[in-house]
Amino acid sequence: MTTSSPIELEFSRKYDRQHAYEYLHKHHDGPARRLSHWRDEQMARRALKIAGDPDLVLDLPCGAGRFWPLLAEHPSRMIFAADNSADMLAIAEAAQPREILYRVESFQTSAFAIDMGDNAVDSIFCMRLLHHIADPAHRLAMLREFHRVTRDTLIVSLWVDGNYKAWKRKRLERRRPAKDNQNRFVVERSVIEAEFAEAGFDILDRSDFLPGYAMWRVYVLRKRG
Ligand SMILES: C[S@@+](CC[C@H](N)C(=O)[O-])C[C@H]1O[C@@H](n2cnc3c(N)ncnc32)[C@H](O)[C@@H]1O
Repeated sequence: MTTSSPIELEFSRKYDRQHAYEYLHKHHDGPARRLSHWRDEQMARRALKIAGDPDLVLDLPCGAGRFWPLLAEHPSRMIFAADNSADMLAIAEAAQPREILYRVESFQTSAFAIDMGDNAVDSIFCMRLLHHIADPAHRLAMLREFHRVTRDTLIVSLWVDGNYKAWKRKRLERRRPAKDNQNRFVVERSVIEAEFAEAGFDILDRSDFLPGYAMWRVYVLRKRG
């Protein structure tokens, strides 16, 4: 386990009780968001299949537990779920049904210093965290921590370039510089793929939310060596 104090990022502090409550409802709020959640689930199922339907999965960050029912579809899967925010974990536990909760062991931890031993799980399932991390050194620190804890694979989503939305965002930012509180970032595909390699992962699969249009991409990575 990592002994030095974990990296703490400004955006991580926003997940208080109110924000956690809003996040719980966000993905069911209107047809567009429900459709987006449905597509997220489709991509997650594909990724888990490519990862070999892992038995021991760490959902980090688990947020309000929106992927717990999907992760529990695999009958022999043991689900560990962790998040930096105690409020997020409390909301997840209050919101998810009892038959799902008994499949999940949740705990509070930082993705920069995961409270688990080396090779503790078959796969880490990391949705919607990496796009909050602007500094390549921080991304690399997190990826190295994932490399330590997973025995086999890492499933990770983030915003990448090479699509219409990323192009539009860049054009907008050129005209109107980003506000100080900007906390979501696009990473060039070539850059993140080099970081995966540097952290010790090979790419098994890439899957885009809406190819050529949307920024979300899910990677399935395999630990090398
Ligand atoms: C956008 S939510 C995504 C949650 C979930 N994966 C989903 O897709 O619904 C981001 C989550 O990251 C958590 N988080 C922020 N910083 C973190 C850190 N350093 N370590 C672990 N979790 C963190 C927040 O508390 C929040 O629950």
